[in-house]
This record gives sequence, C-alpha cells and structure tokens, in this order.
Amino acid sequence: MEHKEIQLKYSLADSYNELPESDRSLFEQAIEAMHTAHAPYSNFKVGAAVLLTNGTIVKGSNQENIAYPSGLCAERVALFAASAQHPGIPVHSIAVVANPKNANATVSPCGSCRQVVIEYERLHRRPIRMLTGPLNGKIMVIENANFLLPLAFFDAGLTKEAKD
Ligand code: THU
Repeated sequence: MEHKEIQLKYSLADSYNELPESDRSLFEQAIEAMHTAHAPYSNFKVGAAVLLTNGTIVKGSNQENIAYPSGLCAERVALFAASAQHPGIPVHSIAVVANPKNANATVSPCGSCRQVVIEYERLHRRPIRMLTGPLNGKIMVIENANFLLPLAFFDAGLTKEAKD
C-alpha cells in the first residue's frame, strides 16, 4: 500500500493590522459586513468581503432563520451575491471575520463554504486567496482556498465541466 501525505501551507499574522495594506482594507470591509449579520439564534456574527479581479468588493454576513437550516454562512452570502451580480468576473480573494468570545479561537470556514469557494476557483481557473480570523486575534492567510479542502468532491463524470 502507498502512503501519501497532504501539506497545508498558510501564514499567520498577529492581527489584521499587520496584513499588507490591500488585505487589511479587505478585512476591514469584512468587519463592516459582520455588523450586518442577522444572527439572533447563535449570536455569532460573521462577515465576509469578496474582492473581484476588477477591484469590486462584495460583502456578505451570516443570515439566520427561525427555521434554523434555512440560514446561510457569511462566506456563501458574499460569494453567491458576487457571482450573481458580477457573473464571469473571477474572485481574487475573500476575507472572513467573526468576533468569538475567545480571541484565540480559530475562525475558519465551514466545509460547505470551502466547497463553494473551490467551485469558483475551478470555474475561473485561478486560486482564491483567503484571509480568515477573529476580530482581535491571529489571521490565517491561505494562498489557495483549495488547500482547505484536500481531496474535495470533484467532477467524477457527474456533470459537464462548469462553463458559464
Ligand atoms: N457561520 C458563518 O457565517 N461562517 C462559517 O464559516 C461558520 C459559521 C455562521 C453560521 C451561523 O449563522 C453561525 O455562524 C453559527 O454557526
């Protein structure tokens, strides 16, 4: 039997203030978005900001619902809005922030959001840079969102290749 290993490469900034200017301003947009969350059930507000390659920024926040499974994460609200409002424009990067009680807690996208980011990487054939972390803690920078979901579900002959 063959043994294989998958490595995850990422960088950690001590705080979002330490990020390079363009990343920091995207992160600040995510913070603004966080304040628009509708999260009365979890009380956990999450903000996301998507930067498109044409410079457009689209923001999203988690939107919950009394019928719990009907809500949606901030990342998907932002990515779906970006794709719907600016079809065909590739995503350059996405910043995600939350404000957990414990500033050392990891703020990292859920599995469904990872799958959705990868969809747009594949659609536009370019990596999406991810910045994710708590408002007052360390920020993880990942150059390719694909790293976050190794061995992700892929077209196994199920569909035609995503075109437009
Ligand atoms: N949430 C996000 O918005 N993004 C994530 O990556 C994880 C979780 C939201 C969903 C729900 O509204 C709240 O955080 C608690 O899970």
